[in-house]
Amino acid sequence: MPTPNELLEIATTVARRAAALALQRRRDGVEIAASKSTITDIVTRADREAEDLIRGALEASRPRDGFLGEESGGERGSSGLTWVVDPIDGTVNYFYDIPAWAVSVAVVEGDPDPATWRTLAGAVVNPATGEVFTAAAGGGARVNGEPIRVNEGVELPLALVGTGFGYDPEIRRRQAAFVTELIPQVRDVRRIGAASLDLCSVACGRLDAYYERGLNPWDHAAGALIAQEAGATVGGLYGAPAGKALLLAAAPGLYAQLDPLVQAYYRHWE
Ligand code: IPD
Repeated sequence: MPTPNELLEIATTVARRAAALALQRRRDGVEIAASKSTITDIVTRADREAEDLIRGALEASRPRDGFLGEESGGERGSSGLTWVVDPIDGTVNYFYDIPAWAVSVAVVEGDPDPATWRTLAGAVVNPATGEVFTAAAGGGARVNGEPIRVNEGVELPLALVGTGFGYDPEIRRRQAAFVTELIPQVRDVRRIGAASLDLCSVACGRLDAYYERGLNPWDHAAGALIAQEAGATVGGLYGAPAGKALLLAAAPGLYAQLDPLVQAYYRHWE
């Protein structure tokens, strides 16, 4: 079994290659290939090309590992490891040329299910800024090789909190309703538009906290490890691991203040 650092090296190399391809396609002009869950949930040709590049490179270097990607789905492996990939997280930002989109590549041990997996390594590359966020389990988090840490000691009223919204209009309405409850209690709220970068922003102190309901595994696999390795607590609904029902990330003190608010709201969701 390779070490987390060896896996991180592979994750970073393939994420950088896909990032360069997606950036070139962005410069050439973006083409929408299809809509997915709703008309606003788009997939571009670059999403597909970047995922194909990553999948092909991983098949060549790690043929026994499984794969779970946003665009091409999943395939089980025989090694016990699975690569979890979002070729372009923040596709709407990518489409509008807002410089907050990322290639996210993680490798997990166990079933490719956030409820039970253990993430061993993750890389999130923002091609528009040149930032490469990385973490290997137990080895801390970095941006462009420099160690990063979450903001400690921030109280709720001074917290800058990131969140995101799903594509389904009814879910968005409910998510927005919670923001109206939260916003008078915190410094401010940001909706940056790429969950992986929100988590990296918590990791490097550009956000104090981030939460979202409805994330897919590829949206958070790499970013959650990076946030955790930078000192964040990352969890889900009612003490479960982070997943589709909820992901909340913040330094432990702020997490303890936000968690009851988010849980109380989401208790009324069902
Ligand atoms: C989306 C982004 C967005 C988040 C959505 C995700 P995509 O991923 O991460 O910030 O709010 O929940 O689906 O569709 O751009 O890969």
